[in-house]
Amino acid sequence: MGGLNQFFKQTQRQFVRDNLMSDEFIEFLQQNRLPYDTLMAYYRCAIMEVETKFKVLNEQFSLQYDRNPIESIKSRVKSMESIVKKVRSKDIPLTLASLEENIRDIAGVRVVCSFQDDIYMLADCLLKQDDVRLIEKKDYIKNPKPSGYRSLHLIVEIPIFLHNEKRMMKVEVQLRTIAMDFWASLEHKLRYKKNIPDEEAEQLARELVACAETSAALDKHMQDIRKRIAESEEEHKDKKDLPQTMGTMMLKGRLFRN
Ligand code: GTP
Ligand code: MG
Repeated sequence: MGGLNQFFKQTQRQFVRDNLMSDEFIEFLQQNRLPYDTLMAYYRCAIMEVETKFKVLNEQFSLQYDRNPIESIKSRVKSMESIVKKVRSKDIPLTLASLEENIRDIAGVRVVCSFQDDIYMLADCLLKQDDVRLIEKKDYIKNPKPSGYRSLHLIVEIPIFLHNEKRMMKVEVQLRTIAMDFWASLEHKLRYKKNIPDEEAEQLARELVACAETSAALDKHMQDIRKRIAESEEEHKDKKDLPQTMGTMMLKGRLFRN
């Protein structure tokens, strides 16, 4: 009975805390609306900067090596709702400076690559740039999460240039292959299915891990095929070493790209 009482007390405390927190957050916003919106605008600028860096790299690879290491880039600024949730779960002080310091994924850029090697190549290229500072790297490709999740995560700091100041902003960059993205998207959708008995949920989680492993094997296989194509091309290069005409260059899209 004592345990039950304690449970109710705890639940009550949590309820009060959560709701107070929402009120607190609403009040915080009322007092800080403009600075909050301004900060979110800075995060959008930081996203533009990071996206541009990746687009430049993609463009250069496409010109130099005739291939695009990036399949797509998706970015987002964290919603206010998710920010409130994180403030609650991490129990961080409710000031703009503290949000900026403690929540490192307010700006998120997801880079979906063709092959696993491209992930490391692009991450290196980004981190070599002299205005990019690495804060943290989490390699969930070498060390997948227990869920089976794979991706390379970087928390970086980059400058945005405002009319009278240079401001450093944190951005979370997630680099993954198409296969890793496919798995993560579907797993994310399934994660929120509720009302499944524990035992069945555990079995499903195991199957999702197995799917992640199958998908990782597919990535390795595709990567291996690419390597063999590159080696074969290299080997037979001399035989088709004819001068390139304007026509073949245009066909290859080297001159006119949209
Ligand atoms: P968060 O508070 O969730 O941001 O945790 P964290 O700061 O420890 O970051 P973590 O390295 O766990 O990466 C968080 C982000 O990676 C999430 O917001 C997701 O986008 C992604 N992620 C991490 N684990 C999983 C997973 O198991 N499944 C899926 N679908 N995505 C995941
Ligand atoms: Mg996150």
